[in-house]
Amino acid sequence: MKESNPASIQSLLADLPKERASLLPALWRVFEADGVLTREALAAVGEALDVPAAEVYGVASFYALFHVEAQERAPVRVCTDVVCSLFGAQELLNALRGRREKPVYAATCLGRCDAPPAALVGRQALAPASLEGVDAVLKGVQP
Ligand code: FES
Repeated sequence: MKESNPASIQSLLADLPKERASLLPALWRVFEADGVLTREALAAVGEALDVPAAEVYGVASFYALFHVEAQERAPVRVCTDVVCSLFGAQELLNALRGRREKPVYAATCLGRCDAPPAALVGRQALAPASLEGVDAVLKGVQP
């Protein structure tokens, strides 16, 4: 996966107003393009929108669905909200954490209560999620 450089980020965000309100749409665009938000990308977003880099980092790191560090290209998030917990979410989370192959996090409702337990592997939703399903997605996103 090729990461955007400051010039390509400027181009990617050229149509957005240079204001704080453009921060989330800008971060999503870069994240969609790269699959990760590097520190260099965050600095370029700040420069493109005329928003301080510290503020850009604060927003990006606040939202759990953004992956700010390069080593977290495919973090695994398992929903442990009520419905998914009733269908084995905690057991799946424990099994994934026990393997320690990738960053694994508990998450609140992922909007897939219809097929619990739900998980996100990078940006790929799995519902219902299983160890085998997570493994299959991870194989496709290994750097
Ligand atoms: S409770 Fe798990 S996806 Fe909604």
